[in-house]
Amino acid sequence: MHRKPSMIDTHCHIHESDYPLPVDDVIARATADDVTEYICIGTSEESSRRAIAFAKEYDNAYAVVGVHPHDTKDGYEEIAGLADTPGVVGIGEIGLDYFYTHSDRQTQMDAFRAQLKVAEERNLPVSFHVRDAFDDFWPIFESFEEVRGVLHSFTDSPENLEKALKKGLYIGVNGISTFTKDEKQQAMYDSIPLGRLLLETDAPFLTPHPFRGKINEPAYVKLVAEYHAARRGISLEEITVATTANARALFALS
Ligand code: NI
Repeated sequence: MHRKPSMIDTHCHIHESDYPLPVDDVIARATADDVTEYICIGTSEESSRRAIAFAKEYDNAYAVVGVHPHDTKDGYEEIAGLADTPGVVGIGEIGLDYFYTHSDRQTQMDAFRAQLKVAEERNLPVSFHVRDAFDDFWPIFESFEEVRGVLHSFTDSPENLEKALKKGLYIGVNGISTFTKDEKQQAMYDSIPLGRLLLETDAPFLTPHPFRGKINEPAYVKLVAEYHAARRGISLEEITVATTANARALFALS
């Protein structure tokens, strides 16, 4: 018998004050399903402070700090200071969201550049949130040559996938990929090289099939892993070993 390889949820929000499930139960279920580490992603200054506190309290949780494009109108100046806190493993989720435009485009772009600078100066990886905004995303991203990261919750075109891969980015997939009926989209997911694939939940959102409609939690990253292993005709162990190694490399986890 050898130890089962463990999975990492590379993008979740279980540290939030309004996360609807009891966290100790959530962690117990994740552990039982071999999901043993969780990267808690900030969406605002307050949420980033909470991610840091959560990572201090729970051994297997890591903090990523940043302000989501939706929330940039409420400020992002604190992120530079928070990024210097020991134990912070990345900057995010940051980027551009023109689907909702809860903050205006100029504010989103200013905040994105400012937070990319924070990442670049500290050599921290970035969790990117980009929705309907790749035309503005690429020139800004390209102006920060040293920055590396992951396109979280990627659902975009094969063209943008190819561009991302050329630029060395990792691709984060979650529950959306398990319930989309769009065959082109499925083919796009299938074409992501195993060496660039990251698994995530985005809990409490985007619960994978067959639990769609329930509250998402890190244990369900296993459903995403099983789904893509089956599509690729590889074992759960193979996808787990590869994606966990990717996560450790990108976020420099020990
Ligand atoms: Ni998220």
